[in-house]
Amino acid sequence: MSSLEDLIPTVNKLQDVMYDAGIDSLDLPVLAVIGSQSSGKSSILETLVGRDFLPRGTGIVTRRPLVLQLNNIDPNSPLVYNYDNSSSTSLEQVNDEPDARTEKEMTLEDHLRKNSNYKPEIKNEWGEFLHIPGRRFYDFSEIRREIENETARIAGKEKGISRIPINLKIYSPHVLNLTLVDLPGITKVPIGEQPPDIERQIENLILEYVAKPNCIILAISPANVDLVNSESLKLAREIDPHGKRTIGVITKLDLMDQGTNALDILSGKLYPLKLGFVGVVNRSQQDIQQNKSVEEALNSEEQFFAKHPVYRTISTRCGTRYLAKLLNQVLMNHIRDKLPDIKARLNTLIGQTEQELATYGDDKVITKENRAGLVLQLMNKFATKFISSIDGTSSEIST
Ligand code: GDP
Ligand code: NA
Ligand code: MG
Repeated sequence: MSSLEDLIPTVNKLQDVMYDAGIDSLDLPVLAVIGSQSSGKSSILETLVGRDFLPRGTGIVTRRPLVLQLNNIDPNSPLVYNYDNSSSTSLEQVNDEPDARTEKEMTLEDHLRKNSNYKPEIKNEWGEFLHIPGRRFYDFSEIRREIENETARIAGKEKGISRIPINLKIYSPHVLNLTLVDLPGITKVPIGEQPPDIERQIENLILEYVAKPNCIILAISPANVDLVNSESLKLAREIDPHGKRTIGVITKLDLMDQGTNALDILSGKLYPLKLGFVGVVNRSQQDIQQNKSVEEALNSEEQFFAKHPVYRTISTRCGTRYLAKLLNQVLMNHIRDKLPDIKARLNTLIGQTEQELATYGDDKVITKENRAGLVLQLMNKFATKFISSIDGTSSEIST
């Protein structure tokens, strides 16, 4: 797969342990995309998530921030059983089933199955919007429609933008617990109902998200525009002057003028970024119209780089799949950097637990054994589930 799936087991284990230990969260970085209008921001995010659900297209499409919280779920969890079939009833299907028995012979369950909402089924990927609590969207094209409607509801039907975010949670066994932010594009010239200071407004809006040190910036620049004019890099440089948390993404490599290429940029010779640049080819407008799938898109992208006379020499460091790998690495480093702190917090916690238990004295409920057991449990979980899965070193926790 393309996405950030590889990290799921590690992050889940880690979050389990931290949850048990009462530590809030891993505080994983937020990923945000910035760039000029139609540079391919929404396209990139969608491919990274691996599902089609974001409005994309020419002109200003993303007009409110979309805060996309991915939630990894266990496919066997009771959460995924769905008793509500009001949205996608397949009554015809049910009725089509040949049923030789007469009405009398049918059991209550048969009746229910035939006539009502009784249809337990497992659907283990869905979306939920903050503005429509409790409703699960199983159909991802419906999610897209809802984003469009909700955008229009607040930001109008034309070209207006709004800083009020749309909050969407995706639940799936195939996603990493991570927050991604899709943002409106940087524009220079007001159009339609846009106010004269639209450029500043959008910049401020973007800054609300990317100014936080915990944000990883995917700075998108289309390859068919000169890099010196890249709005995303200009903005990224203001907030991350040393280029420590910015990944440069060059889109539309398929649309460059004949005879030109972006090799210099991609190999980091033109612009310094610690995390470097990745070149990608997203789905074109025609691909969108022809419903080209994420998987197909990833495969043809890979072919593009592998066969390209210039890029084939660096093809293993190109494309959306490579971008996902790079992001994995960045997240892994973030987790590793946090290890000492988490370890210290766990140690403190174990110490506190011991002290607390000691104050119970001879209390019959809390015996010496289960005190030791509790501490051991925490330690074991910490050691086996956490440290070993991350840095491979053996873990000694002193209590
Ligand atoms: P955003 O406005 O930055 O979110 O950009 P979108 O993701 O909505 O894409 C804008 C338009 O550019 C859409 O029609 C996409 O199909 C097209 N597009 C984006 N990336 C590429 C690319 O790498 N190659 C080609 N040919 N078209 C692209
Ligand atoms: Na667009
Ligand atoms: Mg967009």
